[in-house]
Amino acid sequence: MTIAAPQENPVVTPAESASAGVTVGIPKETFAGERRVAATPDTAKKLQKLGFEVLVETQAGVGASFTDSAYEAAGCRIVPDAPSLWHAADVVLKVRSPQHHSHIDRHEVTLLKPSSTLISFIWPAQNPELLAQLAEQGGTVLAMDAVPRISRAQKLDALSSMANIGGYRAVIEAASNFGRCFTGQITAAGKMPPAKVMVIGVGVAGLAAIGAAKSLGAIVKAFDTRLVVKEQVQSLGAEFLELHFEEDGSGEGGYAKVMSPAFIAAEMALFAQQAKDVDIIITTALIPGKPAPLLITQEMVESMKPGSVIVDMAAEQGGNCEVTQPGEVIIHQGVTIIGLTDLPSRMASQASQLYGNNLVHLLSDLGGAENFSIDMADQVIRATTVIHNGQVTWPPPKVEAPAPDPSASSAPPAAEEIPTAKSPLSKILWPLLLGGVVVAIGLWAPASFITHLTVFVLASFLGWKVIWDVSPSLHTPLMSVTNAISGIIIIGGMLQISGDITSPMTILGAIALFLGTVNIAGGFMVSQRMLNMFHK
Ligand code: NAI
Repeated sequence: MTIAAPQENPVVTPAESASAGVTVGIPKETFAGERRVAATPDTAKKLQKLGFEVLVETQAGVGASFTDSAYEAAGCRIVPDAPSLWHAADVVLKVRSPQHHSHIDRHEVTLLKPSSTLISFIWPAQNPELLAQLAEQGGTVLAMDAVPRISRAQKLDALSSMANIGGYRAVIEAASNFGRCFTGQITAAGKMPPAKVMVIGVGVAGLAAIGAAKSLGAIVKAFDTRLVVKEQVQSLGAEFLELHFEEDGSGEGGYAKVMSPAFIAAEMALFAQQAKDVDIIITTALIPGKPAPLLITQEMVESMKPGSVIVDMAAEQGGNCEVTQPGEVIIHQGVTIIGLTDLPSRMASQASQLYGNNLVHLLSDLGGAENFSIDMADQVIRATTVIHNGQVTWPPPKVEAPAPDPSASSAPPAAEEIPTAKSPLSKILWPLLLGGVVVAIGLWAPASFITHLTVFVLASFLGWKVIWDVSPSLHTPLMSVTNAISGIIIIGGMLQISGDITSPMTILGAIALFLGTVNIAGGFMVSQRMLNMFHK
């Protein structure tokens, strides 16, 4: 085994080096164009704090701007080639799944020792052959793409870290291919309208894209099948496009579910309309394990203004846009379609830092160097482990909802849960009572009272419908509703005003008109002042 001599004065405390029994190896990524690395000098230090000795293949971090000397200064040992590294490491940390290594003309799978553990992106559903090959090697494999998206595992969620960077980079790629500024300005040389951006799919990548596009000054609209994201979109200052379709896309585990063909048709009609208006479309719509839904047709692309840009982040899964070519940037009838599949790798330094941190958290959950073990009883570790000691353990068993407590079912239901079955008598008592009151009014009340009562009942019904059917397109739903009420008051006031300014009706009508106007105008002024507080 050839391992370069450790640096004279590595930054490792004696206590750390004493416990350094388990070695972690960071090979150079072999996938063409991949610039990320599974540990940065900073995360390598954190691994050492967990008690691991860190070996780094020479030039492993060069694509992400981390030199060998930076790793050495962080206390790592530099290893001259891949076979030496894989041989010396007890735990191998990688970004891309094992590939054919062109320099040594060997598949990386064959480098894995039966006793060691590989942690990397694996995509087991898409790579059954790779899974079988890895199992044959006899080691243990943890797939970072299989980390369940539950709160406890957020610190390990590499898919989210990478999607976050990808969403940001998608906006940067769009901006560099767009011939105009994102922000609107009025200058001595002329007016620049702001760019209009539509984001389809508001998962982690979509939210990052909305934030980045907004901060560059664009007008941003977004659409998702999951209505729960509406408030997140609005809180970022973007407009949430709604379909008013009785179907919500929220599926299991916070992921989306496949939508009905009628829904997809309706959303495509919305996109066809929007495509003519917006300058940039960033599309990230995906349901895990399914091909990307086709949402932007060639016809929609052709209806966009020349110079417009589409970034199809789902390119690797087939693309959301009909014209996308995965991995390529093409121009179709004046519209640039970006199908890049390496967006996080284009921000390699930042992406490596986040991914490295995810791995540090995972290794900490695995017990650090001292208590390193794969605890298959832990729900997160179980789901992430795709091969355990040569046995394929993917897919993990579905986590069953806790069985209902039998003792609980025998207990009497809580007082408020006891259904209050209405007796047949009480069911007819109220309508009878109401009917009696109406008959009594009809028999004894004066005719003018009945006319007023009828107008009052109809007005209440109409007013109710008018107010509650107002769509909250103003600043807040509350403001929309109070403005609708004030609007009705103003109309009522106007109807009461006659030529005689001394009549009480005219005076009351004028007061109603004045107060209603103050409420509407004042509401807008207060909102404007509040919005100004957020302007730079
Ligand atoms: P995610 O699962 O969190 O988000 C996907 C979103 O799409 C969900 O909010 C879902 O509700 C929505 N969606 C599903 N079907 C839809 C439909 N028919 N219409 C509208 N919205 C729909 O995924 P995440 O992590 O945000 O990633 C998004 C995409 O970006 C994935 O395809 C991922 O593979 C890709 N990605 C691509 C990168 C690249 O280099 N090109 C880098 C990182 C991520």
